[in-house]
Amino acid sequence: MSVIISLASADDAPAFAQIAAQGTFAARWTAVAFADEIAQNAARVFKARADSGGIAGFIAFRFVPPAAELTNFAVAQNFLRRGAGTALLTYGLDFLRKNGVEELTLEVNVNNLAAAALYKKFNFKQTAVRKKFYNNSDDALVMKAVL
Ligand SMILES: CC(C)(COP(=O)(O)OP(=O)(O)OC[C@H]1O[C@@H](n2cnc3c(N)ncnc32)[C@H](O)[C@@H]1OP(=O)(O)O)[C@@H](O)C(=O)NCCC(=O)NCCS
Repeated sequence: MSVIISLASADDAPAFAQIAAQGTFAARWTAVAFADEIAQNAARVFKARADSGGIAGFIAFRFVPPAAELTNFAVAQNFLRRGAGTALLTYGLDFLRKNGVEELTLEVNVNNLAAAALYKKFNFKQTAVRKKFYNNSDDALVMKAVL
């Protein structure tokens, strides 16, 4: 499957909220929260559009060069494991690099094996563990990549 990555607009917020609500591991922002985030100067949200026309996923960052944080990221259930996540992360890292970011951090649920496998492929290294970070239950791994 090929996807086209581009900057998101407020119009994409409802689709993003739907995708975020599908699984267990994305941050479940509402459409209003996505629209607010898209409007922030220090944020960038990118979308993946599938060649079939639908929105396959999104990735969101906060960045103040030289540092950035991956704040939300998900691919729609019907597009999983077809390369959209890789395309979004590749595009996002490239954007950050071109904008003076040298270090990207994120938190991932210790049980989120799919995302952890993807981040390892992109050379993220675990730097810390946040105990009971999610709903006072699951631990979060803090991961960092040098861009
Ligand atoms: C993480 C996520 C965005 C990956 O998106 P994706 O489009 O399915 O990923 P890709 O197809 O690009 O997969 C790239 C690699 O990631 C790893 N990966 C992806 N899904 C996996 C799974 N279910 N199990 C193990 N490894 C997996 C594999 O190494 C895969 O490469 P391969 O298919 O050649 O083996 C997606 O699983 C998702 O939306 N998860 C729910 C939300 C989430 O976890 N967000 C991240 C919060 S920190």
